[in-house]
Amino acid sequence: MTQYFPYRDGCLFAEELSLESLAEHYGTPCYIYSRSAIEDQWKRFNRALKGIPHQICYAVKANSSLAVLQLMSHLGSGFDIVSGGELERVIRAGGDPSKVVFSGVGKRRDEIEQALHTGIPCFNVESAGEIERIAEIAQRLEKKAPVSLRVNPDVDPKTHPYIATGLRSSKFGIAMQEAEHLYQELAGHEWVEVVGVDCHIGSQLLDLDPMYEALDKIMDLVARLRKKNINIRHLDMGGGFGICYQDEDEPSLDSFGRKVKETLAGTGLALIIEPGRAMVGNAGILLTQVEFLKTAEEKSFAIVDAAMNDLPRPSLYDAWHDIRPVHENSSWPLRTYDVVGPVCESGDFLGKERSLRIEPGSLLAVSSAGAYGFVMSSNYNTRPRPAEIMVDQDRSYLIRERESLDDLLHRENLIPEW
Ligand code: LLP
Repeated sequence: MTQYFPYRDGCLFAEELSLESLAEHYGTPCYIYSRSAIEDQWKRFNRALKGIPHQICYAVKANSSLAVLQLMSHLGSGFDIVSGGELERVIRAGGDPSKVVFSGVGKRRDEIEQALHTGIPCFNVESAGEIERIAEIAQRLEKKAPVSLRVNPDVDPKTHPYIATGLRSSKFGIAMQEAEHLYQELAGHEWVEVVGVDCHIGSQLLDLDPMYEALDKIMDLVARLRKKNINIRHLDMGGGFGICYQDEDEPSLDSFGRKVKETLAGTGLALIIEPGRAMVGNAGILLTQVEFLKTAEEKSFAIVDAAMNDLPRPSLYDAWHDIRPVHENSSWPLRTYDVVGPVCESGDFLGKERSLRIEPGSLLAVSSAGAYGFVMSSNYNTRPRPAEIMVDQDRSYLIRERESLDDLLHRENLIPEW
């Protein structure tokens, strides 16, 4: 993180540009991303998988801004999408549809049709009902649909319950036994072609052992299927690679690479992974300005111009994001603040009990905001969503304009008779 957002002479930078100058130029709140941080991370993943036939399918949901997808596409990335909207983004950003996998439990008919027309190489299917739907559409369009079944390996990913997906109780995936049965039913299907096995057990995994446990279970399944002449060509292990938000040790991508290399050696299987958070999480910050400092009886609050609508992770998951002053003045008193936004909810906070030397007007950088940040923002309290800026060394690009009130209101109608 500090490598791409370093302090220089007491001022925080994004690559070669000071956050102060960016705030002056673009206003606050805004998201700022580092191109090198994204690029280096993508290359780290790719290096770790060297020697295995593989495709990185970046999970678009983590940060779906067109310029981010454009960068991914330049790097040669594939994409994991969960909606027709995400597919449209990938295409508009110049992404290659032949490297797209389509995940998600509730694919609509029109989305399946759109994806079949586009010619994506794999649907990650999550239920028997979905197979029926895909088969019916494939037949109508006379286009054979390539599918993997997303199996639910019933392992505990040891992460926040809201982002754990590989347990038996979860809505995601198909139980191993049922999947095996479905694979057999699909053998020789006229309109559906089995190409792989898919799984994603959860997000923000700091220990990859549960993923390895899932991998072993899936390898057993593949062996059983191959005995029945069901030809599995690839394994998709999903995403979930955790990142450091506070002081966590990130899982080693090289160990992951070694483990999958060992497991897949001699099987002829290709590997797909779908990292989202690990690709962009620490490549972005949310830049915000202190509006007021307020001291109540028990607490001091720093009221800033960003809020839970801009970055919902703290209020939604009680997630920790480091909050760093852009510029520290040692003459300001060090105090403990809850950093809160202007939204009318007690749950509207970006961080609690943070020691900061700040005054009204100070700029703060909310760290690790590149993944599940802007994409989860909303217009609650009729707040326009922030701008997004990409920094590339000493250049900055406005990759998304700040919303205007007209943007927010232009789809609403008054009732003429009233
Ligand atoms: N593949 C599938 C099928 C997924 O459902 C997800 C994330 C990913 C890949 C990417 O996972 P990652 O590498 O980013 O962990 N909003 C939550 C995270 C939700 C994750 C949903 N699925 C958060 O802010 O922590």
